[in-house]
Amino acid sequence: MLSELLISHIGRLRANTALPLHRQLYEALRRAILDGRLRPAARLPSSRELAQDLQLSRNTVVTAIEQLRVEGYLVSRVGSGTYVQDGVPKALRRRPPPGAGQGAGLSRRGQALATSFCATQLEVQPFTPGPADFSAFPSALWQRLQNKHWRMTYPEMLDYSDSGGYAPLRRAVADYLRMFRSAELDTDQVIITNGTQQSLELCAQMLADHQDTVWIEDPAYWGAVKAFMATGLKTHAVPVDAHGMAPSPADERTPPRLIYVTPSHQYPTGAVMSLERRHQLLGIARAQRAWILEDDYDSEFRFGGPPLASLTSLDQDERVLYMGSFSKVLYPGLKLGYVIVPRKLVEAFKQAHYDLNRPGQMPVQAALAEFIAMGHFATALRRARTSYGQRRACLLEALAPCLGAGAWISGAEQGLHLCLRLDDTSDDQAMAGRLALLGLTVRPLSAYCLQRKDVRGLVIGYGYAPLQDIRRFGPMLAGAIQAELRLTTRRAVAGPTSPAPGLAS
Ligand SMILES: Cc1ncc(COP(=O)(O)O)c(C=O)c1O
Repeated sequence: MLSELLISHIGRLRANTALPLHRQLYEALRRAILDGRLRPAARLPSSRELAQDLQLSRNTVVTAIEQLRVEGYLVSRVGSGTYVQDGVPKALRRRPPPGAGQGAGLSRRGQALATSFCATQLEVQPFTPGPADFSAFPSALWQRLQNKHWRMTYPEMLDYSDSGGYAPLRRAVADYLRMFRSAELDTDQVIITNGTQQSLELCAQMLADHQDTVWIEDPAYWGAVKAFMATGLKTHAVPVDAHGMAPSPADERTPPRLIYVTPSHQYPTGAVMSLERRHQLLGIARAQRAWILEDDYDSEFRFGGPPLASLTSLDQDERVLYMGSFSKVLYPGLKLGYVIVPRKLVEAFKQAHYDLNRPGQMPVQAALAEFIAMGHFATALRRARTSYGQRRACLLEALAPCLGAGAWISGAEQGLHLCLRLDDTSDDQAMAGRLALLGLTVRPLSAYCLQRKDVRGLVIGYGYAPLQDIRRFGPMLAGAIQAELRLTTRRAVAGPTSPAPGLAS
């Protein structure tokens, strides 16, 4: 239906967040006309109907339509209604989506990379998943440490580094992983990178050839999808269930070279990989001579019990490469993370990392090593864990009235987001679009899916907003979700509706 299309468009109009609603509606309609989804001569529903469907005031709708009429996109016929203008120049129609780069000289890969798959930026609102709260980061202390290390810097510290990173930082990472992730490793296995994204690309470049297959969870972390796309790998989507990645015998007929997983908190559903699955994956990796890439992106924030052992701690064959990042506990702009590589790969990885990425930033790494050694990292982590834990509890409490047969929560034991799962008949994209109109930005779970059509829900973050905002807006979000659930039930009872005339599918 036109209204649903508009709702999801409006929800995605990031650039228009500061714009009044009539302007957002104008943009959504204009885009629908220009990209051909609203065809020439298509009749619009009446302004009253649109206002009702979109839950906007009639004035808002009339203002948007009038503007489009003045600009020649729409035409009104007395007594008959409002239509899409026949003469909207073809050149204007069917423009590639902004950034898609067609005709701009981009490679096919470049075009694919520029096409957003869930990477669409959302307006940052209290429940937007992704961003964390960096307001508690001890900036003054960090600045003192940085100044100190810059004062102490000797010329070699300013050069590229082929050592795998600053030795005391590598030691600190190894100590942390031995202690908290039950990993057995030598310091030499730690390679400091610019973060998980670079760790993924390095692993893909080093361990797989062009057109080799990488198994990836479905739904998936878009950052990993892009890293594999950029390195020319074929992704094979393997469904995730409540126990993590669930490969079937059919999947094994597409043998992987790499298997990318987020076992301690599947991104985005939050499923924790069961021990049985961990052994199954290790068995597949052994049999197929594949490598497992374990992305442990938010294990520092575990609320539902003690930390879980990592997949790498179960690995007897040195087939797992483990990745971590300082993005969540400290801040993403720091651009520091690490990958733990099997002993036999250490020298090759260091050499290639040097040649490909020219790693450096040694004074920053030195400041971070001291930050960890002096206990500041542990303090920052403790504080952040307590604070996020309170926000999570508050959000869960607010969402409690929404839960029932058609809505349940997954993945709330860890991390900075949770999923409100919905049954597979729900239109989570339209729902998220309507919530965005109310200033409640969440991500539809289906937007993370590669192949699947049976996963629906809302990915809700609690990492960004302070507790008082979650307290204030949580009930508002819950109320809006309840209204959505009622709408879904009413629609299910009423049966399927036919698409609006003039709308391209
Ligand atoms: C699944 C997943 N992996 C890794 C990261 C961290 O990546 P980076 O170290 O590149 O900032 C994130 C950040 O949001 C993530 O969601």
